[in-house]
Amino acid sequence: MSLDDDLLRMLEAHPATARALPWRQTRDPYAILVSEVMLQQTRVDKVLPYYQRFLGLFPDWASLARAETDALLAAWSGLGYYRRVRNLQSAARAVLELGGVPQDEDDLRRLPGVGPYTAAAVCSIAFNRPALALDGNTLRVLTRYFGLSDDPSRPSVRRDLTLRVLPAIPPGRAADLTQALIELGATVCLPQGAPDCEACPLAPGCQARAEGRTRQIPPPRKRRRTERLLWATAVLVRGGRVLLGRNQREGILEDLWECPGVDARPTRSPLQALQDHLESLGLSTRLHPLGEVRHAITFRSIRCQVFQGRIEGDVPLDGNPDWAWVSPEELGARPVPSSTRKILELAAQKSNP
Ligand code: ADE
Repeated sequence: MSLDDDLLRMLEAHPATARALPWRQTRDPYAILVSEVMLQQTRVDKVLPYYQRFLGLFPDWASLARAETDALLAAWSGLGYYRRVRNLQSAARAVLELGGVPQDEDDLRRLPGVGPYTAAAVCSIAFNRPALALDGNTLRVLTRYFGLSDDPSRPSVRRDLTLRVLPAIPPGRAADLTQALIELGATVCLPQGAPDCEACPLAPGCQARAEGRTRQIPPPRKRRRTERLLWATAVLVRGGRVLLGRNQREGILEDLWECPGVDARPTRSPLQALQDHLESLGLSTRLHPLGEVRHAITFRSIRCQVFQGRIEGDVPLDGNPDWAWVSPEELGARPVPSSTRKILELAAQKSNP
């Protein structure tokens, strides 16, 4: 059995078993870039509704390039890793400046936010040019196939795989090959030693399978230690509206709208720390505990104690563009992170048990 035979068998099997995903029905490089950026670190089932809505709002490079930050972040709200959509907008602007999207893999890599995986995915899927898109899934498939037990994040492994696979891509089949590899990694060649080798078209030539090493390849990744945060947050209500402020700290939640809150780790009393913070904003009210919300992002695990208070009359931050009293109907149009949505859901449940 040779690699060429195995790849052909994989390509033959692919259309019958592949999931009918919307980004597989298009060759539009814009739509494909949007899908690949959304799929970075995010599961397919989560991406699906966002993808359709995002393309409805921003159907092409030009509409994305001129989008307002709030509308842009609102369309991404809940997907997390908001840096991705800011980069996507910068990429759209760069494409317009260039007068079109580059087809060459190296030129694609020069677009903001486009790394080696995304460049190869767009180059192969949209332009049907030979390029090997290596992410966690496709790396698992190929390191098992070739029996490579080194850490697949090492550049030498990527180079090695690219040297082996690129020349074997059948002419005109680069797009199908990328999709087929992604599909195998997502549905058949599963991690943690649980691959369904019986269903795998690459099984005849797979080294890891032949040597009984699918559990060892790829080696387990070293986990970064989880950072535990304690936060205290206030849901402040005035006339049926809730107070949200624009996050101005540089970082992943920059420009998203959140309830006022404080880092409560350095204090003995999260409630007191929150009350002091609110007073510094000219907001004084009695706070009642509502409960706790837990939220995990990447390597952070956040416990958030939630308090509610009522505000009557005017407050100093009225009219400040970085603060807003938001009605439930207006919430959907604002970029609000998932943690804040959970907090507002808890408050809604407590007020309508
Ligand atoms: N994950 C990353 N890219 C993907 C794609 N094109 N289809 C399905 N899952 C993916």
